[in-house]
Amino acid sequence: MTSFTTDFTDALTRAADLIEALLDELLAPTARRGEIARPSRLVAAMRHATLGGGKRLRPFLAVETARMLGAEGVAAMRAGAAIELLHCYSLVHDDLPAMDDDDMRRGRSTVHRAYDEATAILAGDALQTLAFEVLADPATHPDAEVRAELVLGLARAAGVAGMAGGQMLDLAAEGRYGVTSSQETQIRQIDALKTGAIIAFAVEAGAIIARADHAVRSDLLRYGRAIGQAFQIADDLLDREGSAEAVGKRTGKDQEHGKATLIELLGPEAARRECARLVDEALAGLQPFGDRADVLRQAARFTVARRS
Ligand code: IPE
Ligand code: IPE
Ligand code: MG
Ligand code: MG
Ligand code: MG
Repeated sequence: MTSFTTDFTDALTRAADLIEALLDELLAPTARRGEIARPSRLVAAMRHATLGGGKRLRPFLAVETARMLGAEGVAAMRAGAAIELLHCYSLVHDDLPAMDDDDMRRGRSTVHRAYDEATAILAGDALQTLAFEVLADPATHPDAEVRAELVLGLARAAGVAGMAGGQMLDLAAEGRYGVTSSQETQIRQIDALKTGAIIAFAVEAGAIIARADHAVRSDLLRYGRAIGQAFQIADDLLDREGSAEAVGKRTGKDQEHGKATLIELLGPEAARRECARLVDEALAGLQPFGDRADVLRQAARFTVARRS
């Protein structure tokens, strides 16, 4: 992150601290009102997966989008925390031996390494359901319609036509099920589903909370989809060119696993050009918002300039 503007990284760090505190509260080790018990091993694994690391970019996008549209307050923070819980679940399962088989995440052991596979599977399951519990909780928003819209949006972004679907395509493209797929359109679809959908929803969540109209939402969807796509290409570049120390996870593994990436297909220079094109596309989506969108503009640039 060193190469990026300090104003932006300071703002991201401040937001991350607030999110951390909220996640810590949501993942309290003792049973909350109405609960019988929180099994300590499971809650410890969930905390390991969630606390003390991560850029928290998705919550930042939810909060900053809502703020740009005039919605200050707890709703976007809680929606952002819910999206982060869902994201952390996706990372726990992504790292499992049956998937990417990684032993390092955010600079420490992956959950199945620190605990065991069964615990990691359950921690992922429980993080996912907690994400939906947070969105459906009246503490997130007093209007049940807004809450229902948030739940619907996250479900779509995470499910068969979103993250989980993209993860399926990602594994299939390795050739596990007979055929490899390395055509550009397929790679774009993998990236849009496995990563783009949740990032685009983080932006959309801010718009839902601000009760933005259709036109505003469609401009923001253009922005969210573009940065989501760029985010995965940047992740692939970091896997190719970054060090485990800087990135916090083992690098060089995409080639080892035969992952279908734009870099593998077109080379790093073309991938970098595509990132730049996607940032321009994202900025075009923000055009109607004028100066109010400056933080989101910075977030788009950060997506591809980041070093971790
Ligand atoms: C990593 O996401 C997985 C992808 C979707 C590429 P992040 O790079 O946002 O990971 P954290 O949350 O900062 O650790
Ligand atoms: C992961 O993509 C996308 C998810 C839905 C978790 P990667 O497999 O490239 O993410 P990293 O590199 O392990 O973080
Ligand atoms: Mg993966
Ligand atoms: Mg992975
Ligand atoms: Mg990766």
